Amino acid sequence: MRKPFIAANWKMHMISGETEAFITAFLPLVRDVKDVDILIAPPFTSLAAASRLLQSSPIIIGAQNVHYEEKGAFTGEISPAMLTDSGCSCVIIGHSERRQYFSETDEIVNKKIRTARKNSLEVILCVGESLEEREAGKTFHVLEQQLAGSLKDIPLSGMTIAYEPIWAIGTGKTASNEQANEAHAFIRGWLRKNREGADHIRIQYGGSVKPDNIAGMMAQPDVDGALVGGASLKPDSFAAIVTGASAK
Ligand code: 13P
Repeated sequence: MRKPFIAANWKMHMISGETEAFITAFLPLVRDVKDVDILIAPPFTSLAAASRLLQSSPIIIGAQNVHYEEKGAFTGEISPAMLTDSGCSCVIIGHSERRQYFSETDEIVNKKIRTARKNSLEVILCVGESLEEREAGKTFHVLEQQLAGSLKDIPLSGMTIAYEPIWAIGTGKTASNEQANEAHAFIRGWLRKNREGADHIRIQYGGSVKPDNIAGMMAQPDVDGALVGGASLKPDSFAAIVTGASAK
């Protein structure tokens, strides 16, 4: 019912030449995969290269951040119009690295989502708990707070949720399939209670996704895809993750 959605978050990696080499090698590897939506979110400076090479491909181009104002004196920020002008149709908002290192609160995340949606950008909203929060039994409470704050007055159309437990990001310590599904089911349950369309929204898992653990994740009923960091930087491994999600 929900088409698998696999996204690459390249974070602060891949200059334009590396982006071109990646895409050139990656495209033939996924040419026959029709039943998975694929997104690549390069850094801003590589968007032009990605957009040129992906022009006639179904692969979606995403950005990793956006400002909540449409234009103005905001040195160093990027607007939704700048992203669409660069070929983006989607943006990742609320990644834990932005929350942790750039002080993004749920309120800021909410403002960013509003502006992005107003400008027709699709949004991948990231939520997830820290190890300390999980060990204190607060996972569901944290997820609920993040969802309520980030999605305040926002309908679900054009949205994807990425559940990314912070302790699993870049650590090689993937959540178990059951832990992931339990969190995803909680998120979907919260959405059902509070929004229309919860059965259609895709919930991606993120945190040390690799070619050898994608199939187990995708076999979970509430896991609809993945947001992939490290393993998306090499064409072979990202293609293996995409094919691993095919025919769910
Ligand atoms: P890793 O796949 O490197 O753990 O990163 C996950 C992530 O943060 C994707 O947004």
